[in-house]
Amino acid sequence: MSGFLEDGKLWFNGEMINWPDAKIHVMSHVLHYGSSVFEGMRCYSTPKGPAHFRLHDHIRRLLDSARIYQMPIKYSQQELEEACSDVVKVNELDAAYLRPIAFRGYGSLGVDPTPNPVDVVIAAMRWGKYLGDEAINIGVDVRVSSWNRMRGNTLPAMAKCAANYMNSQLIVMEAKRDGYVEGIALDANGHVSEGSGENIFVIRNGRIYTPSLSSSVLPGITRDCVIKLATDLGYEVEQAAIPRELLYIADEVFFTGTAAEVSPIKSIDGIPIGAGRRGPITEKLQQRFFGILSLDVEDKHNWLTFV
Ligand SMILES: Cc1ncc(COP(=O)(O)O)c(C=O)c1O
Repeated sequence: MSGFLEDGKLWFNGEMINWPDAKIHVMSHVLHYGSSVFEGMRCYSTPKGPAHFRLHDHIRRLLDSARIYQMPIKYSQQELEEACSDVVKVNELDAAYLRPIAFRGYGSLGVDPTPNPVDVVIAAMRWGKYLGDEAINIGVDVRVSSWNRMRGNTLPAMAKCAANYMNSQLIVMEAKRDGYVEGIALDANGHVSEGSGENIFVIRNGRIYTPSLSSSVLPGITRDCVIKLATDLGYEVEQAAIPRELLYIADEVFFTGTAAEVSPIKSIDGIPIGAGRRGPITEKLQQRFFGILSLDVEDKHNWLTFV
């Protein structure tokens, strides 16, 4: 698989081990019931060396997800943050995608996860642009999914849990089968929720909207960046219940995510958004966002942690 460091090392319960040796038993609880919580984070190549992007916030969200599922994690926030740097250093990477994951391991096959150990792994990989390089400058074509995001009292969206990604898989497979790059799911009430792996922003008449946390969205870290960058630029960002039809009459729509970064959407369900290409506010936000990563814009919110 592209990006995998097959001759590298990963961090497995506190030890650095060779990539091919990082194996678990097929009877592990996680394999049968989706019982894991994880993170996806980037370490960017900068003129001053590799830097984690919002490391503290990603590890905090991992621990929050574990707390929601009552998974005891044997490592502290600080230990996990250090392990993230160690895994970049030991593999001599300049840039990386990091995948910390905590899962219910091998012990008992009952649905009740509590008799099983909780194992923790941090892997680093090489990874480029998720939706493609063109996506960042021009935009992507997406559809509204026929699948809804999980209702809040079924699977909690604030936990980044493996099981949630079965729903994401339905959304992205349907979109790709129909020739789109991605799908936008509505929540169980019919309001706009998020993509299979991205949050969404909608702009109309200079106002910026994003679904509130009660629309079954992951509290995205890039979402938080864009809210802060937009506020710094003097825009108001409203976290609200967003009706589907606002998408079609928007001036600009874009996705945010660790993988997707800030990716404009140029059409939804075949309907062009605004002028049918990246809009000016999206471009301004991208400039700020990518400017922080290239060190051209001051990192005033302290989002970078140098390895
Ligand atoms: C379902 C879902 N929503 C939103 C996001 C964006 O979150 P973040 O910006 O923290 O990567 C992701 C990516 O992890 C995701 O999987």
